[in-house]
Amino acid sequence: MALESCLLLLILFLLFVETRTQPNQCGEIHLDSQLSPTSNLLSWLSPSGHFAFGFYPQGNGFAIGIWLIGQPDNTVVWTANRDDPPVSSNATIHFSEEGKLLLRTGQGRYEKLIADVSVSDSASMLDSGNFVLYSNCNIIWQSFDFPTDTILGGQSLNQSQELVSSVSSSNHSSGRFFLWMQRDGNLVAYPRNSAALPNDAYWISHTDNHVGLDLSLNHQGHLFMNIYKSEPQELLFANSSYSCENSTTIFRATLDADGIFRLYSHCSESKTSWSVHVEWSALNNQCDVYGFCDFNSYCSGTGTNYECSCYPGFVFNDPNEKFSGCYRNASESFCAGSKEGRKYHVTGIENLLFERDPYSAQELEEEKCRLSCLEDCHCDVALYMDAKCEKYTFPIRYGRENKTISSIAFFKEETNPGQKIIIDNKKSLIMFLAIIFCSIAILCFGIAISTFFVYRDRAFLYEKLSEIISLTGEFTLQSFSYDELEKATDGFREELGRGSIGAVYKGKINGGEKTVAIKRLEKVLDRGEKNFQAEITIIGQTYHRNLVRLLGFCFDHSRRLLVYEYLKNGTLADLLFTAERRPVWKERIRIALDIARGILYLHEECEACIIHGNITPQNILMDDSWIAKISDFGLSKLLYPDKVRSSMALLSHSRGHLAPEWQNNALISIKADIYSFGVVLLEITCCRSSIKADVSTEDEMILSRWAYQCFVAGQLDMLLKDEHVEYESLE
Ligand SMILES: *[C@@H]1O[C@H](CO)[C@@H](O)[C@H](O)[C@H]1NC(C)=O
Ligand SMILES: *[C@@H]1O[C@H](CO)[C@@H](O)[C@H](O)[C@H]1NC(C)=O
Ligand SMILES: *[C@@H]1O[C@H](CO)[C@@H](O)[C@H](O)[C@H]1NC(C)=O
Ligand SMILES: *[C@@H]1O[C@H](CO)[C@@H](O)[C@H](O)[C@H]1NC(C)=O
Ligand SMILES: *[C@@H]1O[C@H](CO)[C@@H](O)[C@H](O)[C@H]1NC(C)=O
Ligand SMILES: *[C@@H]1O[C@H](CO)[C@@H](O)[C@H](O)[C@H]1NC(C)=O
Ligand SMILES: *[C@@H]1O[C@H](CO)[C@@H](O)[C@H](O)[C@H]1NC(C)=O
Repeated sequence: MALESCLLLLILFLLFVETRTQPNQCGEIHLDSQLSPTSNLLSWLSPSGHFAFGFYPQGNGFAIGIWLIGQPDNTVVWTANRDDPPVSSNATIHFSEEGKLLLRTGQGRYEKLIADVSVSDSASMLDSGNFVLYSNCNIIWQSFDFPTDTILGGQSLNQSQELVSSVSSSNHSSGRFFLWMQRDGNLVAYPRNSAALPNDAYWISHTDNHVGLDLSLNHQGHLFMNIYKSEPQELLFANSSYSCENSTTIFRATLDADGIFRLYSHCSESKTSWSVHVEWSALNNQCDVYGFCDFNSYCSGTGTNYECSCYPGFVFNDPNEKFSGCYRNASESFCAGSKEGRKYHVTGIENLLFERDPYSAQELEEEKCRLSCLEDCHCDVALYMDAKCEKYTFPIRYGRENKTISSIAFFKEETNPGQKIIIDNKKSLIMFLAIIFCSIAILCFGIAISTFFVYRDRAFLYEKLSEIISLTGEFTLQSFSYDELEKATDGFREELGRGSIGAVYKGKINGGEKTVAIKRLEKVLDRGEKNFQAEITIIGQTYHRNLVRLLGFCFDHSRRLLVYEYLKNGTLADLLFTAERRPVWKERIRIALDIARGILYLHEECEACIIHGNITPQNILMDDSWIAKISDFGLSKLLYPDKVRSSMALLSHSRGHLAPEWQNNALISIKADIYSFGVVLLEITCCRSSIKADVSTEDEMILSRWAYQCFVAGQLDMLLKDEHVEYESLE
């Protein structure tokens, strides 16, 4: 009896070992399999033969993805690492012995993980279009979890996930629009070069009082959102019309390259031939997609019959891509020209609308509105609508013409555009100015660096001291509740100033002991607390005598506030541009060097290089002992995600300090700060603002140009009329 049970136990044990040592393999793709564009194994097919995973042609190379096999064109539904450049025909996809799915590009033995997991034992291309990796028959990775621009039947878009449109039907890199399943329950479509604020939304599910759980597409072609108010509900967007009853039907919902979210059905007619139908479309008019025609252009027409046109006086950025936006074919600002407005006229366009963020709005009659823009040198365009006159400066975006809008927009243009020679001269002038700025800036940095070395020992001591202090915990960032800060500011009573980011209030913390400046961020993207804290930590770690110190913060639902040290002597702008407070020459040189040190620290010495992006005399504060400190650094990344920063800064940045690359949407580097510093340096030198209207001659209006003219003419002393300074040091 005992022997029998012993035997039974042994058999059970052996069975157990057997199952342990022979792992279940659920996928038909085994370890050590390989794909390559040059071999005859280019892709792995799903059992039905409808979907494939592998290499598909892109540009003059190959991309890796999943597509629905069809004639004449395959439909790509997913792309791995979509923003990487195409790979050459030497590349291979290797499902390696160690269970990694790798791309080897052939050149330089470069390897890249396609799926971010390392211990799978088999893989499978499923009939649903989902590519999965298994470990012991559990799915440990699936392409359905990382949608690009498409969801297929059985797939869903979870909270915080987004679909990003492709560049075009043949280029599957990230394009110009995204559809975001927001935490607030709304499914919203935005242009990607926007800050994703309510004003930027061109399509929205209007489910804000609900909790949106996900967007789903099922195998019957129902596209719906799972929402939750007091009980779970479904919000149905589209019901498929089942146009192909008996044949295989594949549904997909795609955010198309044109920014419109559509549901498609593919009905099989034969093994590889499909008839494609649009079952539903979120928008019917192309012109309803914000930003489809980019900056300074507008969209007109109905349905798919649309056109992008430049505003009067503008030309296309890229004449071959009419949606790429426009630029003004004259670099001259209206303020720099004749003050009487005689050289200008306005052109009216009816039924036009664009983003409404005017710098001025008042009730006026139509004709007065037209004249008002003509006479105001800052006005580029006036919008007359509902008996109101709104004035704008360029760039403007989201322009669209729509017969249902009763409005008229007046665009100011030069009546007699200058001759080509003059324009050429101006161009070279700008080039020269840029060179001069760069040299000035480089010179200053040279001075700043050498000063840095001279004072390095002292700085060392200082750093050691601050280390000790931070060890005692006194300088760690303090977290406040909204109520505490409301109390500290006495209900946000005393406003110290207001910038593009939000208002600053005076307050007292630590039981009224310490006076602080509390900044309320008004345009923050809801990108979650973790990001906010990460950014704040970076700002909190930047500690330098020429930077305004961050003391604490508040993160309370949608409310974000920053608590800074309070500097009672105001901004550099107040100091320079108020005749009675103007510092003497030597003092001004010291201030310029202070600022240069602060910028050098931001760019080169702190742990993460910080581009300030908005250096102006308004952002530089003076402390009790008249040391200049830079404020508002590190905020641009917080306010706007990387991809939209440049266009937003373009809109909010003060004019005159803007480096040229902001306007071209080019990559922004620390050089942009150096340019702004160059302008600030001129302002410090001359104690006047970079653009000034009440001057004796027109030449003096723009400081940089004026300084250049004086420099070329060898009359730098003209810059400082009623102050005597040593010519050499000025030069
Ligand atoms: C796809 O578009 C992106 C962005 O416009 C571009 O950088 C890339 O070169 C394009 N790729 C191909 C293969 O054309
Ligand atoms: C492929 O590899 C070979 C040898 O390694 C090289 O000569 C050839 O230029 C490569 N082709 C491409 C398209 O990179
Ligand atoms: C959505 O969330 C569910 C549950 O958390 C998860 O199983 C699923 O894979 C997620 N889908 C995507 C597309 O991430
Ligand atoms: C969608 O289809 C389902 C079943 O096919 C039906 O019950 C439902 O009423 C339809 N909804 C709409 C809005 O047409
Ligand atoms: C679909 O199939 C059913 C039964 O198989 C058949 O009676 C019907 O006619 C078919 N419909 C079409 C449109 O082919
Ligand atoms: C005109 O505007 C209305 C309201 O915004 C919109 O529904 C409609 O689609 C627009 N028409 C065109 C042709 O863009
Ligand atoms: C820009 O303006 C000049 C003169 O006004 C003109 O000669 C030139 O053709 C214009 N450029 C474009 C691209 O329209």
